[in-house]
Amino acid sequence: MQLLITCVFVLGFVSPCLSLRWNAGTKNIYNVMEYGANGDGKSDDSQAFLRAWNNACGAKGASTLLIPQEKLFMVTNILLKGTCKATSILIMISNVNSLTMDGGGSIDGNGSEWWQCISCSRPRLLGFHACNDLTVSNLTITDSPCGHITINSCEGARFSDLNIHAPPHSPNTDGIDISASKNILIEDSTIGTGDDCIAINSGCSYIYAARVACGPGHGISIGSLGRNEAHETVEEVYVRNCSFNETQNGARIKTCQGGSGYARKITFEQITLIRVHHPILIDQHYPTQHPTVTYRGFEGTSANDNAINLNCSPLGCFNIVLDQIDIVSSKPGKKTYASCKNAHGIVGSTTPSVHCLSE
Ligand SMILES: *[C@@H]1O[C@H](CO)[C@@H](O)[C@H](O)[C@H]1NC(C)=O
Ligand SMILES: *[C@@H]1O[C@H](CO)[C@@H](O)[C@H](O)[C@H]1NC(C)=O
Ligand SMILES: *[C@@H]1O[C@H](CO)[C@@H](O)[C@H](O)[C@H]1NC(C)=O
Ligand SMILES: *[C@@H]1O[C@H](CO)[C@@H](O)[C@H](O)[C@H]1NC(C)=O
Repeated sequence: MQLLITCVFVLGFVSPCLSLRWNAGTKNIYNVMEYGANGDGKSDDSQAFLRAWNNACGAKGASTLLIPQEKLFMVTNILLKGTCKATSILIMISNVNSLTMDGGGSIDGNGSEWWQCISCSRPRLLGFHACNDLTVSNLTITDSPCGHITINSCEGARFSDLNIHAPPHSPNTDGIDISASKNILIEDSTIGTGDDCIAINSGCSYIYAARVACGPGHGISIGSLGRNEAHETVEEVYVRNCSFNETQNGARIKTCQGGSGYARKITFEQITLIRVHHPILIDQHYPTQHPTVTYRGFEGTSANDNAINLNCSPLGCFNIVLDQIDIVSSKPGKKTYASCKNAHGIVGSTTPSVHCLSE
């Protein structure tokens, strides 16, 4: 247990560099090496990062925190500015506007030791809280003790060209978790972990995911919403041109018993499936108002014969649209089928046929 508590993790920023900058400019450059960082992967560089960050933050106009190439930095727990008290996040960036984080580097959470203790409160790797107009691109983020990227209370962010991965057996290692945020775009990324590739939680709206290759993992999910009888909402989510490879779920919406709220205006389209266990899945345990969930243009294979499962509470889910669906079994000679409970909507052309959806 001691090992679990004395957690350290390595920031391996490999070729050529990782930089954080804001207000788009490169005039004032604050290199962590000039603030006492060792970059040997052994000594703790947290304080040097903090000092460099504080100066970069305090500078007038545009500035850049530079984490140079071909070095390995170890930091234990850093909070880069802010009022956020979250201690369960290893790198927390809060209340910074117009920040860009990119450079082709990588951040390694070295979390394997933590994965053995599922009940431990394991830290998440990289968190953004109240950061507006954020750009995060061209980074590799691996092996978080728990979730990899957490986005909370942000408005206007673009995440692109990310490679997020952890082994399929690593518990709760969500790729990207979003809550209480608006106008978030995730594109051209590869996410393969032990849990959801992307989880869209309460208070989110206008979330777009495009060209994300998901797998292994649990797919892209809305929710769980309504845990602990809460009122939670998600709306305007567009997942387009994404692929799921050997994931547990594909497009999933989950609401919990006792909760209230809604998940509405959700569209999944142009989706490629490779041996996905539950390609289209709704587990709905409380009624949602005007859901409007559209699944259009799904193609590929299901590992489970029950490829489409719309399981709603007795008060029903409405306005579900299924069109241009072609999901066949990955097992030779097997046929896929759809099942529904209290699900209502419109069916276009689908394989398997969805007779169970009522108007
Ligand atoms: C990622 O960063 C590397 C190094 O800076 C650069 O060569 C490459 O073009 C970048 N890729 C993208 C997609 O921006
Ligand atoms: C990663 O963590 C393990 C323990 O889980 C440790 O033995 C190893 O040295 C760490 N790797 C680095 C590069 O610090
Ligand atoms: C879908 O994404 C792939 C890359 O993942 C790209 O090559 C293709 O052009 C995209 N298709 C459309 C219609 O956007
Ligand atoms: C799907 O995943 C398997 C196992 O990880 C891999 O071997 C295969 O290349 C992937 N397929 C595609 C199309 O990416």
